[in-house]
Amino acid sequence: MRLRAPCPFALWRITKDKPLENFNDLGLAPMLLQNLDGLGLHKPTPIQAKSIPHIVRGRDILGLAQTGTGKTAAFGLPMLTRIIAYGKRPTPKTVRALVLAPTRELASQIHDNLAAYAKDAPVRIQRVVGGASLNVQAERLAKGCDVLIATPGRLIDLIERRAVVLSETKYLVLDEADQMLDIGFIHALRRIAKLIPAKRQTLLFSATMPKLMDELAQSYLNDPVRIEVATAGKAADKIDQGIHFTTQGEKAALLAEYVSRHPGELAVVFNRTKHGSDKLAKLLEKWGFSVTAIHGNKSQGQRERALASFRAGEVQVLVATDVAARGLDIPQVAHVYNYDLPNVPENYVHRIGRTARAGRDGRAVAFCGPMEMSDLRAIEAAMGARIPVIGGEVHPEGGTRPPPGQQNRGKKPHRGQGPKPARPAQEKPAATDAKPAQKPTQKRRGPPRGKGKPAQGGGDAPKRPARAQRGH
Ligand SMILES: Nc1ncnc2c1ncn2[C@@H]1O[C@H](COP(=O)(O)OP(=O)(O)OP(=O)(O)O)[C@@H](O)[C@H]1O
Ligand SMILES: [Mg+2]
Repeated sequence: MRLRAPCPFALWRITKDKPLENFNDLGLAPMLLQNLDGLGLHKPTPIQAKSIPHIVRGRDILGLAQTGTGKTAAFGLPMLTRIIAYGKRPTPKTVRALVLAPTRELASQIHDNLAAYAKDAPVRIQRVVGGASLNVQAERLAKGCDVLIATPGRLIDLIERRAVVLSETKYLVLDEADQMLDIGFIHALRRIAKLIPAKRQTLLFSATMPKLMDELAQSYLNDPVRIEVATAGKAADKIDQGIHFTTQGEKAALLAEYVSRHPGELAVVFNRTKHGSDKLAKLLEKWGFSVTAIHGNKSQGQRERALASFRAGEVQVLVATDVAARGLDIPQVAHVYNYDLPNVPENYVHRIGRTARAGRDGRAVAFCGPMEMSDLRAIEAAMGARIPVIGGEVHPEGGTRPPPGQQNRGKKPHRGQGPKPARPAQEKPAATDAKPAQKPTQKRRGPPRGKGKPAQGGGDAPKRPARAQRGH
C-alpha cells in the first residue's frame, strides 16, 4: 500500500457550476463519443460532468454520487481515453488499468459497460472473477491487457500463479470503494495495492462513504479531487421509500401482497441469509410467483442464469442476499423489498438503489420486525433521513416509534426530532417505465387463504389479503 500524508481534498460541488449539456466538451476520445451516441447516452450526468475532465488530466478522484447516476462511465470513459492515447499494445501478462469490484456480477457488468463504450477501439479489456476456470483466465491474460476488471480473491490467485503482473499498472479503480476498503476486502486490497507502482492514478467511487472509510481512502489517493454530487449516503432522489412494521412470521404473506399489487413489474427482495433466500424463493414459487434467487451458495452457472432470466424479464422476483446489493444495473427493476433489514446500514442505500436508476422512478419498502428496530435506527442515522412509515404497528417493546395513527407519514418531523424523512412512498403505485422484456408468467399469486395476516397500514400497504386460490 502506498501511504501518503493525508492531504486536503479540493471540494467541487455540482451546485456551484452550470451542468454540461453534452459529452463533447469533456476531453474524451472521439471514438468514445461516437459509441456513447450509439448507446443513446447524450448528456453527462453530474458525476460524469464533474469527474471526467479531472480524470482526463490525470488527477486522483474520490467520487461520491447516488446510486444509478452513471459512476461506471464517470471513471470508465476518461480512463479509456487515456489508454487509447498510448497507441501501443500492453506487454504480455501486464495490466494497464485495474478495476476492482466486490462481486463477480458487478465485475462482469463493468466489463460489459466498458467494452460497449470502447467498441472498435484498440483496447483489450478482460475480466477475471471467481467461480470460473483459472486456466482459461490465465490464458486470457497471457497477452497482457489494457483494462482488467477483477474481484480481489481471483486476482490474487492469478498473481500467485504468475499469470499476471501489476508492475506496469498505471490506473487503479475501486468501484464501491467503501466496501473495498472494509474488513472483507481490505487485506486483499493491501496485497494488491503493494504490487502496483506508487506512480499511478487512483479513482475511488461509491454512493456511500462512512467516515472511517473516508479516512482510509485518503491513504490510497494522491492529491485527490473530491467530487460529491450529493451528500455521501443519500438515497437516490426518485425512490419512494416506506417502512412497514410487521413480525417475522407475517413477512412472507405481506411480501406476497405487495408483489401481487404490481403484476409484471420487476422486484428485488433482499434477505439477510442464503438459507433464508432459498426458503423464501421456494415459498413464493409455491404460491405461484415467478421467482429466482441469487446468493453466495449458488454455483456461478446458477447465479448467471438467475440474473440473466431476471434481466430479461422472464421472472418477476429476484430474491437475493447482499451479493446483489451493490452496483447491479437492471433498469426495469421497479420495486425493492427489504424483507430483512441489512446489518450493514450503508447497504440499505445500495439495496434500494437497485431501483430508480438513470432518472427512473422506483419504490422501496422495508419490512421491520420487532427485533430490527436498532437496525432501522442505524440505517436512518447513516442516511440522515427518516423512512416514512407506510404500514403495520410497531411492536410495544420494539422501539420508540409512535403508533401508526400518530406517525408522521410524509410529514417533516419537528425540529430536533431526528433526521428529515426520506421521500415517502405514494398512495398509488409509483409511475414507472419499467417494462419487462417479456411478461413474466402470471400464475396464481399469493399465499393460501388464512396463511398470513397482512398488516394494515397506509400508503401502498396491502389492505386485504390477495384473493386466495388453492392448489397450484
Ligand atoms: N449520461 C448518461 N445518460 C443517461 N443514462 C446514463 C448515463 N450514464 C450512465 N447511464 C445509465 O445509468 C445507469 C446507471 O449507471 P451506473 O450503473 O454506472 O450507475 P452507478 O452510479 O454506478 O450506480 P451504483 O451506485 O448503483 O453502482 C446505467 O443503465 C447507465 O447506462
Ligand atoms: Mg456503480
